[in-house]
Amino acid sequence: MSEMNSQTSALRSALAKHPSVTLGHHPTPIDHLANLSADLGITLLAKRDDCNGLAFGGNKVRQLEYYMGAALATGADTVLVTGAVQSNFVRTTAAAAAKLGLASEVQLEDRVPGTDALQQRSGNVLLSEMLGAGINYFPEGENEAAADAALDVRAAELRAAGRKPYVFHLGSDHEPTGGLGYAACAAEILEQLDGDLPDAVVIPSGSGLTHAGFLVGARACGWDVPVIGICVRRDAGLQRTRIGNRARQIASLLDHDDLIQEADVIIRDDVLAPGYGQLNDSVTHAIDITARREALFLDPVYSGRTVAGLIDCLNTGVIQPGSKALMIHTGGNPGVFAYQSKLATVLDRVNPVA
Ligand SMILES: Cc1ncc(COP(=O)(O)O)c(C=O)c1O
Repeated sequence: MSEMNSQTSALRSALAKHPSVTLGHHPTPIDHLANLSADLGITLLAKRDDCNGLAFGGNKVRQLEYYMGAALATGADTVLVTGAVQSNFVRTTAAAAAKLGLASEVQLEDRVPGTDALQQRSGNVLLSEMLGAGINYFPEGENEAAADAALDVRAAELRAAGRKPYVFHLGSDHEPTGGLGYAACAAEILEQLDGDLPDAVVIPSGSGLTHAGFLVGARACGWDVPVIGICVRRDAGLQRTRIGNRARQIASLLDHDDLIQEADVIIRDDVLAPGYGQLNDSVTHAIDITARREALFLDPVYSGRTVAGLIDCLNTGVIQPGSKALMIHTGGNPGVFAYQSKLATVLDRVNPVA
């Protein structure tokens, strides 16, 4: 067995020590995006975590395999989660709870200025309601600790009423359970590509568990690929600290202390403005060309920003012409419907009526 194969199986054994449940169709495919590759002058691969099956899928399904494993291990009957109004985590938590016969309560935070009625009710909100989640609202969108504390208050009320709640906290002072799912994803990709590896991986970086988990998984397997995190919420300074901390915490859950060095944490925020959940020209361009050239949908908050960030890396020489890049498509497709009015404006501009 090669060195990398034995490190990959050691990672799988370390992951197996954590409780988990199967929720998604894994392995997800890796597609060669031939048309965009030709346009951009690179070989572009997409890891299709948008196709992992559970209720429109996405990255949170891998994270939930471990969150739900932890919740079930405590005998929980209800799970509580917080996220933006159009949170995919909220929708997939409601879906996983429905599948596993648990109740779910989701807390929707007002994080995006200037939302319209569609953003408030359509897309992920509609789906969470269809999945049977109880919905609570939380106005302070930028106060992560307060959002977590509000979940704890609600959990105490449920406990007093005889229920067994389990809270999935978002703040970085809580255990990074969901990151284990992306350590597993790195191992999965190594097994799929069987030695034919990309020169760079491009991945969205929000709460950070996808980015940090993937980085830990790659390094634990001895894979030293640059993992370029594209900021979707915080600027590069804040996000660098967050990812370093989260990666060290995840590594320690896998008995891999000292695995992550400062140089491993690569963060880019060049396509973040004007901020979380808001479109800019580079994001709308990425959404537009990926739909037209690859029949692949990107959402305005996460995957659209990831491809915009990848193009920015090409334009700035961070990714070299002729090289091979792998983007992690983390899903978020229901967000397209919530952003219908904003995307329609862009499409009218791109395709003016004659
Ligand atoms: C579709 C999608 N992609 C990427 C992310 C970012 O993942 P993370 O929060 O693990 O950084 C999210 C987070 O909600 C998401 O919903």
